[in-house]
Amino acid sequence: MQHYLLKETHSYEEWRAQKLYKYPDDAGQLIIELNNPINITDNELMTLTSTCSKANMAIYRCTNIDQNNRKTVNSIAMQLGLHQLDGNLCADEDRISVITDKGKQQSLYIPYTNKSLNWHTDGYYNSSQQRIHAFLMHCVRPAKTGGENSYLDPEIAYILLRDQNPDYIAALMQDDVMMIPANEVNGKQIRSAQTGPVFYIDADSQALCMRYTARQRSIVWKKDKTVQHALAFLHEVLQDCPYIFHYSLNAGEGVVCNNVLHNRTAFEDFNDESKKRMLFRGRFYNRVACNSNPLN
Ligand SMILES: [Fe+2]
Repeated sequence: MQHYLLKETHSYEEWRAQKLYKYPDDAGQLIIELNNPINITDNELMTLTSTCSKANMAIYRCTNIDQNNRKTVNSIAMQLGLHQLDGNLCADEDRISVITDKGKQQSLYIPYTNKSLNWHTDGYYNSSQQRIHAFLMHCVRPAKTGGENSYLDPEIAYILLRDQNPDYIAALMQDDVMMIPANEVNGKQIRSAQTGPVFYIDADSQALCMRYTARQRSIVWKKDKTVQHALAFLHEVLQDCPYIFHYSLNAGEGVVCNNVLHNRTAFEDFNDESKKRMLFRGRFYNRVACNSNPLN
């Protein structure tokens, strides 16, 4: 979405109609099979990037199980133009994080447990210089049961909020609407407090982006009636909305997206360590490379 579309009602209406035209009905329509993820064909790449252009996300499926590894994840990211990797506290040297239930070891961080994860965008607590605009999550092994993700395109969230009340958008674009307190571990500050908007335009891509967390703790929302109403409406949307995609990644599948809203159900693992749920995740400062042939 170009910045001007946000302000000009007529242009916005056109963009909205185009966005919703033939919008995917379910997660199955986001799936693209990759015969060789190390060398994605032009057609596969076109379908992947077109799907991302349309829905801000796509699901790939590696048909060769021998390629279900870290090297493949890095390779897919590079081929999609995702090269500005973010290094977070729990990432390995190559800045790819291994998401698995680490028990008590990293119990401060819910992604590394088997608990459910509330709706959020990744890195909502990052500074404005290190905003996360894409992530790739690759499933090496699914859980025994559970661990399903749901996803909602931020552009759809924007449309639903704006349809309900345009003031909600203005409220959520304020620079001081959302404050994440500093992160302190054992009395030592490892990240300073971060204040910023929910919706904003990324200066590099001119795309509409979103920062959000549904968590109640460690977040301070602006004390403003419209903000509170907007958040209550968004909460309602995230409970049940026909545009939400639900999908449990299988081994060798992954989701690549422009940092869409997502959550995760709790899961139960196998007892055998070697069979435990494991995903690789990369977070990026740039977005998925787009082509000029969106699916609309
Ligand atoms: Fe996440």
